[in-house]
Amino acid sequence: MSKYIHPQFLPDSAEECKHRKMAFVLELVLVLAILLGWWFVVDKRNHKKYPPGPLRLPILGNILQIAAQSPFPSIAFANLSKKYGEVMYLKMGMVSAVTFNSPQSVHEILSHDKTVERNRTMLPMIEARQYGQNLGIIFSSSEPWQKMRRFTIRTLRDFGFGKAASMDVAIAEELEKFTDHLKNLMSKDGVVQAGSETSSKTMSFAMLYLLTHQNIQEKVQKELDEVVGKGQEVTMEEKGRLPYTQAVVLESLRYSVVVPFPPARQASDDFYFHDYFIKKGAIIMPNLEAVHFDEALWGDPKNFRPERFLKKDMTINSELANKLVHFGGGKRVCLGQNLAESTIFVYFANILSKFQLVKVAGDPEPTTVPEQGMSYSPQPFRVIFKSRK
Ligand code: HEM
Repeated sequence: MSKYIHPQFLPDSAEECKHRKMAFVLELVLVLAILLGWWFVVDKRNHKKYPPGPLRLPILGNILQIAAQSPFPSIAFANLSKKYGEVMYLKMGMVSAVTFNSPQSVHEILSHDKTVERNRTMLPMIEARQYGQNLGIIFSSSEPWQKMRRFTIRTLRDFGFGKAASMDVAIAEELEKFTDHLKNLMSKDGVVQAGSETSSKTMSFAMLYLLTHQNIQEKVQKELDEVVGKGQEVTMEEKGRLPYTQAVVLESLRYSVVVPFPPARQASDDFYFHDYFIKKGAIIMPNLEAVHFDEALWGDPKNFRPERFLKKDMTINSELANKLVHFGGGKRVCLGQNLAESTIFVYFANILSKFQLVKVAGDPEPTTVPEQGMSYSPQPFRVIFKSRK
């Protein structure tokens, strides 16, 4: 005798199965759409007075929109800011960030009292490097940072940093070692691999720019030959008499950026930046690269044109030079600014006084597009340092 089966428990036909699956998928999509819509409404309401920014997705935040713009976050932010405004609220995944993308807003936020603290927890590698504590200078905050910064400045001064004469001595010693090293290399194979592992990325960039702009290199050498003498030692004392060389160094700082964002600062309190609300703990990201490539400020930022820093009377346009934010700004401005500026100038001038930078025959035109990273470095390129004597 066959067993009675209630129709509810009879197996579905293939057609019914397909319909059921489709209905389930549709229901799921509908529920997700409602949830997402609800999320957008609540998210918008919660961020009413925040700076504008693109729509944020749950969990991912704005990561997809940023990645779609450019592999370089600084360029992605600058592009997005054209649509949303110079001050933008973004979610980097779950992390709230406010990015500043115009000369005016960047200068202002770097010196703002509420953005002196840094955030060391955003990047696990930094947190690990700090042993999870408020240590060092770069990533520390509050009192330990103040004490460490004061101590470092005092100690560097005691060693003569900041005093032109003693800095000249220290830099000259280093430079001699460097030029000797170059001369040794020249006698071996005549070619130096630059850019891949260099202690000074800015210097490497400057070398790269002059390699690709031979006319500018000639002008620097003409000035050095006339003012200091061909192949002669250049010190900080001569700086004032070398405006074109100074302008080329400034243009190299502008063009290379090297540190596109300062190590993450964070809002130490809730505050208003003009009309925009910024919540305590938000990551503050002044886009230094956006300042160095701002069209309204520079006119033709994509051209490497040192003359922009020279006034008609061949003196440096210091008002324009002060717009550079290579070293950040405000209370957390780079501690090595003076040392780095002097070193770069003296190294640069001495190398060009003694050597001609020449491309290796057959090498393709080196690119000035940097290698990505927390700081930029040039992509590896080859250069011949040809003695000028
Ligand atoms: C061309 C070379 C250099 C560049 C482009 C550079 C750039 C920067 C930038 C952008 C910052 C962040 C500033 C901010 O938050 O506003 C910084 C911080 C810092 N730099 Fe440099 N820097 C350079 C060389 C040096 C040198 C040579 C030293 C050491 C003598 C140094 C020591 C520091 C320190 C200790 C900080 C942290 C300051 C703080 O948080 O209080 N830098 N640098």
